[in-house]
This record gives sequence, structure tokens and C-alpha cells, in this order.
Amino acid sequence: MKRNLTLRRLTLLLCTSIFWSQPMVSEEQSPDSVYLFAYATEKNNHHNGLHFAWSDNGEQWAPVGPEHSFIRSDYGTWGGEKKMFDPFLFRDNQGLWHLIWSLNHYDDVFAHAAVDDLILWRRQSYPQGVEGRNVLLPEVTFSNKDQNYRVTWLSVAHEDSSYYASTTNDFKTFSPPQEIQAAKRQDLRRDIEISGNMERGTVHKVPHSMVIELIAEHQKTEARNKLWSETTKGDSARFAGLEPLKVSLSVEGSKSKKISEQLIGIFFEDINYAADGGLYAELIENRGFEYALSDKKGSDPDWNSFKAWAVKGDQMTHRIKTENPLHPNNPHYVELTVADKGGALVNEGFGGIPVKAGEKYDFSMFAKVMKGRKGKILVRLMHGDNEVLAETEIKRIGSGWKQYSAELTASKTIDNARLELLPQSKGTLALDMISLFPQKTFRGRTNGLRADLAQTIADINPKFVRFPGGCVAHGDGLDNIYHWKNTIGPLEARKPQRNIWNYHQSGGLGYYEYFQYCMDIGAEPIPIVAAGVPCQNSSCGGAGQQGGIPMEHMDDYVQDVLDLIEWANGSPDTYWGKKRADAGHPEPFNLKYVGVGNEDLITDVFEERFTMIYEALQEKHPEIVVIGTVGPWFEGTDYREGWDLARKLDLAMVDEHYYQPPGWFIYNQNYYDNYDRNSSKVYLGEYAAHLPGRPTNLETALAEALYLTAVERNGDVVEMTSYAPLLAKERFTQWNPDLIYFNNTEVKPTVGYYVQKMYGHNMGDRYINSRIDLNGDYEKAVENRVAVSVVKDSQGQALIIKLVNMLPVALQTGLKVEDLKISATRATRTVLTGHPGDKKLLPVEDEIVVGSDFEVELAPYSFSIIRIEN
Ligand code: AHR
Repeated sequence: MKRNLTLRRLTLLLCTSIFWSQPMVSEEQSPDSVYLFAYATEKNNHHNGLHFAWSDNGEQWAPVGPEHSFIRSDYGTWGGEKKMFDPFLFRDNQGLWHLIWSLNHYDDVFAHAAVDDLILWRRQSYPQGVEGRNVLLPEVTFSNKDQNYRVTWLSVAHEDSSYYASTTNDFKTFSPPQEIQAAKRQDLRRDIEISGNMERGTVHKVPHSMVIELIAEHQKTEARNKLWSETTKGDSARFAGLEPLKVSLSVEGSKSKKISEQLIGIFFEDINYAADGGLYAELIENRGFEYALSDKKGSDPDWNSFKAWAVKGDQMTHRIKTENPLHPNNPHYVELTVADKGGALVNEGFGGIPVKAGEKYDFSMFAKVMKGRKGKILVRLMHGDNEVLAETEIKRIGSGWKQYSAELTASKTIDNARLELLPQSKGTLALDMISLFPQKTFRGRTNGLRADLAQTIADINPKFVRFPGGCVAHGDGLDNIYHWKNTIGPLEARKPQRNIWNYHQSGGLGYYEYFQYCMDIGAEPIPIVAAGVPCQNSSCGGAGQQGGIPMEHMDDYVQDVLDLIEWANGSPDTYWGKKRADAGHPEPFNLKYVGVGNEDLITDVFEERFTMIYEALQEKHPEIVVIGTVGPWFEGTDYREGWDLARKLDLAMVDEHYYQPPGWFIYNQNYYDNYDRNSSKVYLGEYAAHLPGRPTNLETALAEALYLTAVERNGDVVEMTSYAPLLAKERFTQWNPDLIYFNNTEVKPTVGYYVQKMYGHNMGDRYINSRIDLNGDYEKAVENRVAVSVVKDSQGQALIIKLVNMLPVALQTGLKVEDLKISATRATRTVLTGHPGDKKLLPVEDEIVVGSDFEVELAPYSFSIIRIEN
């Protein structure tokens, strides 16, 4: 358990792998330069990116790694794309390395990225080849005559193969491609056997020191991955012989700093049926008949305009129609032809309609009679074969579209009722926007939220709510970008659209409802708008990557973002402010933040559009804090490039995302310690601990609790955090783990939820220094599994001590509070503890005796909060 043992083990590990990676030369004999081979393999369906091998004689080669990926392609969608074919590495006259590669066998673009040291790669770009023709085997040469670089490639289409060339000075702008003779190519690639396989790539002479750096990079990655993959499964071996520890904790009252008061918030995205069928209280699935095959890209033939609906009885037929719709944004409706009464139009809800005995439900629909007399419809809630749970009727349906409504009271509590509409007259009638809401929505709002879910979220005491995503915000391709204007106003005029997570968004839970929820729970609204680019993993985006809103449309897009501020904050006299007032909220929503972009690839396409939006916001609304984005990882190209852009534009805040194994959180508690205090602040907008198989349990929850102590310590840099994703409907889940699972009738908060809630109710505004002493020399595996954070809530004068013990042994902790008066003698202690694999746990509260010197025992695998109200 003691440190030197581990050190010895680690040194041995490093030595073994250095020896293994350098079979041909030892460092003393190394020549000044060696050969470096750059190549990609077919493995993992071409997804593994660029590898290196090296040789001192050009004949025997050793891979770096083996197969360490130094850069991977980021073009296009996950799975089908992000491949690297035929990489060609080239060093320019300034010593900068350039890599170009082919992306696939059909697109008319190739890829480029540059790097100084072959390790820290800069942003990727995807220059255009010949429109409509593929780009294969690209290579680069320098023309002394023209003093420029020439990229040439092969293009094969319908048995015809041609070569093309394009020139560039900077690898950003290229001359229009010209057809060339095959003989003009140099074909500089070589075939080399690496680990028994023939690979094709380019060979370069480089200083041996460069290869040593590449090997060291690989070893660093291996070593840290090993550390980060530690899970509690290995704890009995890892901590064999570890006895309960006696720990001393000193709280240094004289050393404190101001920290953010809004560290804990909510990330809401419509993923896992979080909105329709989830938080949005509508009980009718596909109420507007707008489900479309394209929602699921044609993979489900039943996912169409009539999804969740059925017609019962042979005296009635239905057709989906689009002529003279209720609204052009909502073009589909159902037409029923009734030969005789007795038939019913049936909706099963989102896997059953849950109703409660004695509770009231608001039914509404738009209807018009197309043929026949003024109509009457019976509206029923049904269960089983023929049990009527509630009934009402809509009379005198006329010939123009009109909304009809009625109230239903359920006679019984049933999880899976259905709605039936029974036309009582012969003829033809059209129906649309058939809706059923419980009257008991959260805070009784019309078009409101499911009360139990909304309350569970509110119970965290979040200081902000981010919406509408996540990837939903930037969408699957340009046509799928989330436009806030489509989600406000009358429900029948909202524009439903495909959800990037492969289902449907009705838009019923739209911007007005999000803002209203924020007001209801006292949280700041944080809308995220796309940065003029869709998701980089889009499966339907123009030239791969992000495409980007065409520049000729960017002014309109920027205006949309500016209009959002007017809609949220403008007076009812303004055009957009009036829309908010008309919807029922004349007072401003007091919007303070807008996020622009969501973990996008940081490319030239992104930067150009982001900058336009940012500058317009700065100019027109300097009062709004714009939150930038720095990619989907805690490091790497997008992280570095995103931060560079943030510094260049002097952004107030950036949004960081990382989903990592518990070991990452355990060993990266110093992540923010060295962040520049004078640079942009951080919003940790998405994070979660991910174990293999993605369960959520006490182990993941404790890793998050542990890391949050370090975030609190850095609360002068990190302004806000939100665990992601928030909600997941059982059986309709695209992503695990999530914070709160639910079905139609139950809400099932996870253990991680209670960590958020414990933090949410115990934020402070001053961080108080504290020192933890394990009273012995322990290795990092032990040290890093014990964490503390002490904050003070100046308003309430509470001193709040958070303690995490991720060890399998108890910690007898002696606390000493220096330079702070503790007048209370008792404090509330809240403890979350159990077995690491536990998925269902509740925090337990008790009272303990405290003073300026007191003792507590921290149970194995526990998170405790001691709250001393002074
Ligand atoms: O939280 C789920 C997804 O993870 C988000 O939509 C996206 O931003 C991230 O990749």
C-alpha cells in the first residue's frame, strides 16, 4: 500500500514497454536520424487513424504502440464514417507537418490536418476535390518552380479513372482542381511490412529524439489508461491488507476564496424520450399525425403518420391527408369516413395512458366535418376489453377547423388506459392535434409538465437549466438544427421535427415551456443555440464534417439568435417581446446566458460562424454572457483549439464536456487547479462517470461526488456544472447512464441523483481551505480516494463539510476547525453509502455533535455532508 512499492511497479512497467518498443537500437547507439513510417491499417474498419513505425536502417521496422492512434479522422457520422484511408504525411518548408488522407470511396473531399510535433494535431479541414468525384490516394509535393504545394489525387468513377491536382500555399485555400497526367504524380508511398502485415504509407527521416517522444506519448497514454480503468472490482486486491485509517482534517478558516453560487444545475435534452412521453405531460402519442418514416430514417415502417393510432370497427375507415391542413407547419391530419356509428379512433398513448381515480383530464382536438351533418363525437378513456373509465362528448362539429375541448374524470387508477373517439354521425370528418393532459401538471400549468418528474428535478435545487441539448441543439445535419422560433406560439403552429436520437419532437415542450419551468423553480435559463453548424457526427450533413449554414444565410441565422434575446427579455412593445407577452408572460424572463455551439469540431467553418454570432451578440447585447464550446473531450484538438478561440475572442465562459471512467475522476482532481484564473470561466456542461457496460451505481456516484469536491475547490474558475443526460424513459433509452429513470407512472432517481441533490442543497459562496492528512505515506490509489471540500454559505452562515471516502475501509476522521468560530454544538450529517454496485440507495440524515475539534467516522464507500448552522 505504501508509495515506493507502486513506484517500483510503475518503473518496471515503463522499462518493459520501452525495451519492447525499441528492438533495434538502444539509446546510446542511436544514430542522429532514423526512419519514420506513417500509415493507417484496415483494422477496426479503418477507424484507427494514423500510426507510426520506425527503423534505424530502413529495413526492420518496429511499430510505435503497436498501433497507437496519433490522429483519427473526424469526418462524418459515427460508425459508417470517421475512417482514414491512404494517409500521406508531408513536411513543409517551415518544418510543419501536414497529413492528408482519403475519407471514403464516394465523397468529393479529402482531409487535412497539420502538426508541429506529430502529437498535438491542429484542427482538421475537408478541402473540396472535383465536385461529384471521389478523392483517392492523395499526395503532396512542393513545386520549387511555383513555390507552392501541389496536392494530387486519383479519382475513380464508373470505370473511368483520372488524376487531378490543386495547388495551395497554406492548405486552407486551394486552386480549382485541374486534370493531370498520371505521370505527373510521384507515387511516393512505400509498402512496408509491419508486424507481419504489409502496410502502405510514407517514409521520413527524423531525429531519433522525435521517435523517442512518440514512444513516450504512447507509454504515457497506456500508463494513464491503466490507472483510469481502475474500478472497485479490483479493490479487494488493490487494497488487500489496508486497515481502517485515522485521518486528520484541518479546516483553515483564515484562508478562503469566493466561489460560484450556482455550481449545480440541470442539463435537459430530449434524449431517451425525455420530452414527448416524458417531462411534457401530453398523454397522446403522435397527437398531430406528424410522425414520419424519416424520423427513424425509414428503419421502422410502422413509424408513420398513424403511429400509436388505430381504427376499431368495420364501419369506419381512415386516411392521412395534407390538403388544407390546420397549419402549414403541421400538415398531416386524419380523415375518418363513417359509414355507420360504432367505430372508434384509438390512441394508446406512449405505451399506455396512465390515469388516476378521481383526477381530471383536459381533452382537446381540432376537427371539421368534410361531408355530412354537424357531427358529434363520444370521447372515452377505456381499459381492457370494454371498461369505460371516463366519457364525455363533443357536439356540433362544424365545417371549418375549430378547436373543441372537454374534461374527463377517471373513475379508476389504471396504468395503461387508451383514448377512444367514437363519431356518432355518418359522413366524413377531419381531426388533428388530439390531446389529453392531466389537470395536475407541475404548478398547474396549461400545456405543462409531468408533475412528479418536474418536481424530482426541482428537488435537486438546480441553479440553472440548460436546454434543449446536447446534440439536439445543433441537430443531425443542417435541416435538423433546432430553431427556437419553431417551438413557440400556438401548439398547432409549432414545427415538429425529427429528433437526432431517432424519434420525434412535437415541439410541445418548447422555449416558452422551458423558460416557464426555469421561472417556476427559480433557475437561470441557459438556452443553447447551434453555432451555425450541425453536429459533427451528423449522418446527413453536406460535405461531411459540419457543412455549416451557407454564409449567405448566416445573417438571418444571427438575427434569429438576436431575436431570442428580444423574445426573452424585450418589452411587450417589441415584436418578439410581444409574442412572449401574448403567450402569457409579459414580464421579461431575465435571460442572462446563451450557449453558442455544443461540443462542435473546432474548424474554420465553425470559427467563422461562431465568431459572427458572438460578435453580433456582443454588439447588440453585451449584457448577455455568451458561453463558447471546447469540444467533447477534456483534451485533444477541439479542446485546445476551442480554448485558443476562447482566448482570442476573450469569451466570458466556455462549455466543457467529458464522460470518463470513475478512475479518470479519481486521478484528475487537479484538473482545474492550474487553470488561468483570469481567462474564460468554465461551465462543465456535460459529465458523468462511465463504467464498462454503463451502469449507474454507488461507484459512479461516488466518483462524481469526489470530483465535485475538486470542482468546488476550483469554484472561482468553474461557474456551473450539469450532469448529463438527465432523463431516461425505461425501454426507450438511447444513452446510459442517466440521472433519473422513469416510466409512465414511476420516477426512479439514481444514486447519482442523490449526489446532485446533496450538492444542490449544500452549495456555498466561499471555499475554505482544508488540509487532509492520512497520517502515513500512502500511494496515490489511496490518497486520491479520499476527498474533502469545505464551503461557507455566507447568507445562512452555515459551514458545510463534504467528505468522500472511496476506499473499502472506514476512515476515523478527526476534524479541527481553525480560525472560525463554531457556535453550534450539533450539526446535520447526510450520508450516502453502501456497496459500490448498489443501484438503489437513499441518503440517511442524522445529527452529530460538533465543535472546533470533533471526530466522525466515514464509512467505506461513502459520501457525507456535515452541515453546521452557526
Ligand atoms: O448527453 C448526451 C450527449 O452527449 C449529448 O447530446 C452530446 O452533447 C454529448 O455527446
